[in-house]
Amino acid sequence: MLADYLKRRTGPRPVAHWSGNGRDPFIQLRNVVKVYHTGAGDFTALKGIDADVEQGEFVGIVGRSGAGKSTLVNMITGVDHLTTGLVRIGDTLVHELNESEMALWRGLNLGVVYQSFELLPMLSLLDNVMLPMDFCGLYRPRRSRQWAMQLLRQVGLEEHARKPPTDVSGGEKQRVAIARALANDPPVIVADEPTGNLDSVTADTIIQLFVGLVEQGKTVIMVTHDEALVPRFSRTLRIADGELVNGAQQALGS
Ligand SMILES: Nc1ncnc2c1ncn2[C@@H]1O[C@H](COP(=O)(O)OP(=O)(O)O)[C@@H](O)[C@H]1O
Ligand SMILES: [Mg+2]
Repeated sequence: MLADYLKRRTGPRPVAHWSGNGRDPFIQLRNVVKVYHTGAGDFTALKGIDADVEQGEFVGIVGRSGAGKSTLVNMITGVDHLTTGLVRIGDTLVHELNESEMALWRGLNLGVVYQSFELLPMLSLLDNVMLPMDFCGLYRPRRSRQWAMQLLRQVGLEEHARKPPTDVSGGEKQRVAIARALANDPPVIVADEPTGNLDSVTADTIIQLFVGLVEQGKTVIMVTHDEALVPRFSRTLRIADGELVNGAQQALGS
């Protein structure tokens, strides 16, 4: 069904179709600069970020509050516009997509997870997971319900499917958000402080879910300010004052 759907539409293709050319990295950021224009003047939140991520990596972006982590994530997901530079994922230049291309491209290719879960309170957990499927129209309704249930099973919440988000714990909400991020089976998962509101034991279950996804071949980029999580990543990029530090660049582009 995905193949038919893609034949019908024009514009950027899912990165799942990217087989690489043996030379370029899967995800490439080049000289990414972000300047916020505020009433108090311009503020440069990213000062020229270069980074490569390969398929199947679990990359941690680590830095203190205010370092520029969320800004960087928003450049990767296209949620916000970069000022100058390049963000490429697969064969798509993310920064060149217009708003409608971006929404569809993101829906097909990225699962995004936030610190505050961002579940819709009026919907059941199951319906929350189904939302991105409805938006991208990849599945027929019955199929999407089955797939959403399967995703809830994957995160261990099948028996809570009919409950509203208010009836489950923070860790469970985040597991639902991860199930929702997997709705369209995206190759890339991006998470901004997904464990920021969770105790360390609960946080560990979330990390284990991400590790499992990486084992399935997904690429996961996760932001945190928590140094204790560093050993869990396959690679760590450190950011301070809008720049990558500590030799994070050494592994790149060489
Ligand atoms: N919309 C915005 N307008 C102006 N400044 C911003 C905006 N968003 C973030 N900043 C500033 O950019 C810097 C980096 O912010 P952010 O990326 O949110 O950091 P982190 O996620 O690492 O805590 C901070 O100094 C923050 O105040
Ligand atoms: Mg942040």
